[in-house]
Amino acid sequence: MGKLIGLTYDLKSDWKSSPDDPIDAAAELDNARTISSLKTAFESVGHKVKPIGSAKNLLKALPNLGVDLVFNIAEGHCGRNRESQVPAILDLYRIPFAGADALTLGITLDKTIAKKCFIADGLPTARFFKATSDDDLKALNTIGYPLFVKTLHEGTSKGISKDSRVENFEQLKKQVERINRAYKQPALVEEFIKGEEFTVGIIGNHPPVAMPVVQYSIHGTTKLGNEFYTYRYVAEKLVEYICPAPIDVKLARKLQDMAVRAYRSVDCRDFGRVDFRVDEKGNPYILEINPLPNLSQEDVFVLFGPALGLTYNQVINKILDEALLRNGLLQTEAASKK
Ligand SMILES: Nc1ncnc2c1ncn2[C@@H]1O[C@H](COP(=O)(O)OP(=O)(O)O)[C@@H](O)[C@H]1O
Ligand SMILES: [Mg+2]
Repeated sequence: MGKLIGLTYDLKSDWKSSPDDPIDAAAELDNARTISSLKTAFESVGHKVKPIGSAKNLLKALPNLGVDLVFNIAEGHCGRNRESQVPAILDLYRIPFAGADALTLGITLDKTIAKKCFIADGLPTARFFKATSDDDLKALNTIGYPLFVKTLHEGTSKGISKDSRVENFEQLKKQVERINRAYKQPALVEEFIKGEEFTVGIIGNHPPVAMPVVQYSIHGTTKLGNEFYTYRYVAEKLVEYICPAPIDVKLARKLQDMAVRAYRSVDCRDFGRVDFRVDEKGNPYILEINPLPNLSQEDVFVLFGPALGLTYNQVINKILDEALLRNGLLQTEAASKK
């Protein structure tokens, strides 16, 4: 039977810009088109949809929300708890929701905390340190060069430009200062992984299932070497996604297995996406896990659909069904036949 699904999200158009914003300040927020795609997908199988919007709108709509479950894709506006705000409120009011809870979203938005979970679980991730320009960068850098400097708690390649790969102390200092100043947060500095890049979507809970591997191609080649995924490449759509990745089955299985282990390591639920670089010797490194991957029709997450013969609407409802099932709002086929 159809359910009433609440939708929480943060739109790009709701971002209040200030003069010192970096150009990519609102990059992670959603387009209105993504919200209407999700709505259409849910309605296509008989659900009704109640658009709610941001955490602040959610607070205004409470306590009588009246929905069966909230499908949450709200990114929040600032700080490393921004993605945790909506799930924490929903938890407080005991309203079921799709996707990871507040704790997982906090752990994973701060990439260094997630990396510590991966290391504790024996999963490979690039060596790293967290830095501000007040730190003694020479003493912190026990890795050597080249290094890669990125934001600690942003996504969508925010803050990443061709200068993010650094080869010496001056460049390192400059990039750490830039991240601190423009993004108001420490920088995450990692060993640079020269090689190829992949991402693996996951859906489900008991067990989570890895989707076909997607490979990134930039300037028409998958042999990225020293190339990487900058904000400009994302904005100008210069990255191509290939699914299934044209790689041997052994590597694909290895990435899928690691992706599921990373998902379990930080207690993801219903859906998620794990980003990898694979070095020139074939060693995979987990860059990060995204418990709230972008669900727009153009983004990489939904791209495994055609490889499995699934439409966009089917992919989205597959995620929703996992959340309904986990919350006892949907019967499995086996249970309904009893
Ligand atoms: N250690 C690294 N070595 C090489 N490239 C990297 C490294 N870390 C990140 N990158 C590049 O930067 C991009 C964005 O990094 P990622 O950690 O996935 O953050 P985001 O949340 O912005 O997607 C990656 O897709 C990759 O191209
Ligand atoms: Mg990423």
